Amino acid sequence: MNTVSQPTILFFDSGMGGFSVYKETKQLLPNCHYLYCFDNAFFPYSEKTEKKIIERVLMICQDINSKYPLDLIVIACNTASTVVLPSLRAHFSIPIVGTVPAIKPAAEHSETKHIGLLATKGTVKRSYVANLISQYAGDCIVEKIGSTKLVEIAEQKLHGKAVDLVALKEELKLWENIVDLDVVVLGCTHFPLIKEEIEWCLPQVRLFIDSGKAIALRVKHLLSKIEVRSKKMEKNLIFCTQSFDDEVDFQRVLNFWGFEKLIHLNISE
Ligand code: DGL
Repeated sequence: MNTVSQPTILFFDSGMGGFSVYKETKQLLPNCHYLYCFDNAFFPYSEKTEKKIIERVLMICQDINSKYPLDLIVIACNTASTVVLPSLRAHFSIPIVGTVPAIKPAAEHSETKHIGLLATKGTVKRSYVANLISQYAGDCIVEKIGSTKLVEIAEQKLHGKAVDLVALKEELKLWENIVDLDVVVLGCTHFPLIKEEIEWCLPQVRLFIDSGKAIALRVKHLLSKIEVRSKKMEKNLIFCTQSFDDEVDFQRVLNFWGFEKLIHLNISE
């Protein structure tokens, strides 16, 4: 990577969950030009059809790329990554990094060989995930919880609302009495943002794993191999796909995460 140039990286998620991945990358590569898009008009992705998710992610990434030429895209969403990566790679020649559940490290770290996958309703059903499990966790019992409620709770927290611990505990009730469940995969990028609350509900779990750090390292590696398109210093920007109630307060959240401006995209349904 040319040290004078500043690669433009887009992080994409349905909501604020992608911040958990962006945070790790920004820490490792503080000087990149960061764009973050949350598709709030279509949030949550959890139970949406695969076809519609593919259409929207493609449409939005193309729209942003036409205005702000991108060097790399991170799909900071497991629900989207488990279906959209082949189409994105067919449309773009830049590197596309996906976020998929960290099944392999979870199986490796588990002593009891009884692990959990906590993800969205869509992700737990994907054939992509079934393949990951049969390839890397064949020696484990893999429990799965697919939840839309947890995504909504995490999203609310990022908008400054209190976490509903009763509702959260209810969502995790199935695992309460599985005493040998020792490793849990946080297979939705929203969940590291409520990790402490999840830990509180599942005290028997020794380790919670997400993909954030691995993605940051992958981004660094890929950037070292490309010629950067943008050469001048740019502002870090955040995009949404519809207006929302607390936009004025949201300016603080945005600044906290290192973005200067919120831009509304006009994306048709
Ligand atoms: N944060 C996303 C994920 O990693 C999607 C959450 C949603 O919109 O359902 O799966």
